[in-house]
Amino acid sequence: MRSSLIQTRSIVVDPERPDPAAIKEAATILEAGGLVAFPTETVYGLGADATSAGAVGRIFQAKGRPPSNPLIVHVDGADMARSCLADPNVSPEVARLWDRWWPGPVTFVLEKSSRIPDVVTAGSRTVGLRMPRSPIALALIQALGRPIAAPSANRSTGVSPTRAEHVRKDLDGLVELILDGGPTSIGLESTVVDLTGQIPRVLRVGPITESELRTRDEPTPGRSTAIAERPASPGQARVHYAPRTPTYWVEPADLGRVALRGRGGLLVVGRRMGSVAWSHDRRIDLEEPVEAARRLYDVLHDLEDSRLDFLVVVPPPAEPEWETIRDRLWRASRPLEGTGSIEEATLIEE
Ligand code: TXA
Ligand code: MG
Repeated sequence: MRSSLIQTRSIVVDPERPDPAAIKEAATILEAGGLVAFPTETVYGLGADATSAGAVGRIFQAKGRPPSNPLIVHVDGADMARSCLADPNVSPEVARLWDRWWPGPVTFVLEKSSRIPDVVTAGSRTVGLRMPRSPIALALIQALGRPIAAPSANRSTGVSPTRAEHVRKDLDGLVELILDGGPTSIGLESTVVDLTGQIPRVLRVGPITESELRTRDEPTPGRSTAIAERPASPGQARVHYAPRTPTYWVEPADLGRVALRGRGGLLVVGRRMGSVAWSHDRRIDLEEPVEAARRLYDVLHDLEDSRLDFLVVVPPPAEPEWETIRDRLWRASRPLEGTGSIEEATLIEE
């Protein structure tokens, strides 16, 4: 339920050299069990003291997030990471992965210690740990002196925020403070890698691809470093990161065969494409993968706010450099073809 008691304040913070006074103020709120939204290099997080079950409970309330979906715990380095683990003496393989990818957009899942309450991990014995690169995020964790649990700072199932304005749109009145560090630099959520089994498993594709994780990890005798096939993971359901506007995934080959009624938006990703046969009110093209990643959620928020009846997404080609963007677009949309139940748009087969 939305509480009208909280006044959500914003403080603009330099993303490279954050003002210590602003960080201290944010840490004081976290210390008292409050919520602070802050930028990381991937997306904005909705943070609470990860060692406080009560504070973390407020994250689930504010997001409307099902209690079955675990949160990522953010740390300022290996020592704090160890303090969250059942066995602080991590294997050399784990230490090497931390060394290689932290700080950065990779979350590692390991067996948790009792310091991390069960509510954080949705009852799981494992915890997802990430050391972010963003100076604001790192300064905040250091100022609190404890790990910070933070999912993306959006209402559950909505589009992740890459700007402070996106956070306010979703969570105004539900969070005490938003640290506004401007647009995030990467723009897509971290890669989640499970390290609890014999071999690392990617649970969520992200900015660091499976092949990068594989090729930069030298094989160790007796232990395969191959990345296992991705299993189902909590929070990885289809239509998880969806805009509120009905959004349809349409392959380029099908574009000419469809006609849609109403105010439409067209988002073309990873392709050079001429005009399309149907009229639309907005069109955005994202051609290059790094820029597409950085801008994708901003564009989706923008299109969602444009009072469109529908949005057609033309996905990028099925190539490794586009994998994460295809994954997020797939979750944001449904296929247009073959559906007889589309109210907002009508599919007309030739
Ligand atoms: O880049 C990011 O990862 C951002 C920033 C704020 O760090 N956070 C983020 O959190 O995207 P969230 O809650 O939107 O997604 C976290 C996902 C969960 O949906 C789940 O799939 C996975 O991470 N996860 C977290 N803890 C896990 C665990 N113990 N076991 C398996 N999966 C876990
Ligand atoms: Mg999320």
